[in-house]
Amino acid sequence: MTKTAALLLGSTRASGWTRKLGRALALLAPPDLEVREIVVADLPLYHEELEPREPPEWARFRAEMRAVDALLFVTPEYNRSIPAMLKNAIDIGSSPEEHSVWSGKPAAVASFSPGMLGGFGANHHLRQALVFLDVPVLQQPEIYLSQIDRLFDEEERLRDGPGKELLVTFMQAFDSWIALGG
Ligand code: FNR
Repeated sequence: MTKTAALLLGSTRASGWTRKLGRALALLAPPDLEVREIVVADLPLYHEELEPREPPEWARFRAEMRAVDALLFVTPEYNRSIPAMLKNAIDIGSSPEEHSVWSGKPAAVASFSPGMLGGFGANHHLRQALVFLDVPVLQQPEIYLSQIDRLFDEEERLRDGPGKELLVTFMQAFDSWIALGG
């Protein structure tokens, strides 16, 4: 049976690395796993007082999140943490607590950087929130991609080599993780 994973991007810049990496990972997914982007860029900033008249973007996001089986986070690091846009989506999905869209959904996290650290800080700040939200996150392989530009060729395709092989293994492990229920 086909499973669906929400692709949640930490940056949605049209020509950005996050989008390129997210697209590449979706293409590497095994045939029984559909990876579809769920838009987070248009979500009004979380504020409890907006809850009684739920903004339509929040309602759209929450409904789309409830319909997926799993979560694939792809994020850069902003100031040693996750971008505010992604944290905002997490906060919106977590509320109201009894209707959290996150609980129990198997997840995987891929972080990257143009520099050397691979977004390690963002990756682990994200994992910290996911523990609290009762999201079982794939442990291995961990994905902290440094020098992200080296992973892609001029046509924005993944170059063959150890980086691509790691990402293939990652998507297979994610698929098995979802099948196990996380
Ligand atoms: C960054 N960047 C960055 N990189 C990093 O490795 N560690 C960091 O703490 C930060 N902090 C940071 C803050 C802010 C506000 C910006 C805009 C950028 C660089 C970041 O990783 C890089 O711009 C990515 O390419 C962003 O992803 P997209 O937009 O290319 O998808």
